[in-house]
Amino acid sequence: MTDQLPAHRRQPLSLDTALASFDALWSPRIVTHVNDYDVRVAKVEGEHVWHVHDDTDEFFLVLDGELEIALREPAGERTVTLAKGSVFVVPRGTEHRPAARERAAILVFEPTGTLSVGDRHEEVPDHVDATTGHALQA
Ligand code: NI
Repeated sequence: MTDQLPAHRRQPLSLDTALASFDALWSPRIVTHVNDYDVRVAKVEGEHVWHVHDDTDEFFLVLDGELEIALREPAGERTVTLAKGSVFVVPRGTEHRPAARERAAILVFEPTGTLSVGDRHEEVPDHVDATTGHALQA
């Protein structure tokens, strides 16, 4: 199987290099896979869209800058702020809306095929890419 892996999985991959290879905001790139999960990176600024993943938790790691995630929980709405280097998991079934006041970079870990705008969402604005993740361009 090993020699069937794409080139980017046979060698270490610099996340800085991966992030430098694209400019689009809220448009995650798949950097590698772990079992049936994707590791995706995205550049973000402004607000994403309220959405929910019915069947999966969603892991966030802030690579650069600061990310806010608004959450609609049974007790009400709250926002968590993730500084660079922070991790947070949005539980499945929890409506959430990531946002960044200034340009930031994030890593997301979630099952392959997970849609960036979830299974249910509010109207997707033009600046948000509804995607299951894009391949990195070599
Ligand atoms: Ni999400």
